Amino acid sequence: MKIKIGMSSDFEEGKGKGVLIEQRTYAVFRVNGELGCIGNYCVHADAPLCEGFIKNGKVVCPHHKWEFDHKTGKGFGRESQGSLAIFEESGEVFVETDKTTPRVEYGDF
Ligand code: FES
Repeated sequence: MKIKIGMSSDFEEGKGKGVLIEQRTYAVFRVNGELGCIGNYCVHADAPLCEGFIKNGKVVCPHHKWEFDHKTGKGFGRESQGSLAIFEESGEVFVETDKTTPRVEYGDF
């Protein structure tokens, strides 16, 4: 399902924003102009990634500095924040809730 989550101007370059989508919170970041939408609560110990920062194109967790791809949610190993497809159309931002990648907890492998 396609859901509007805001206007393009709501998502600034390099700055995280937490967005509640179907009872789950996601961290949306814009990196080099491209939006990504990943699960907000860190697979390590649940810190909110939307309060993290961007370093070398990766989302850095504010607590212990693990790094994640801002579009896929993948970390340095097999763990992943999971993601939703996100796109812009005519100055508006949408997600596709049926286009996802799964969250993989640190302890799941
Ligand atoms: S809670 Fe994110 S790295 Fe520890």
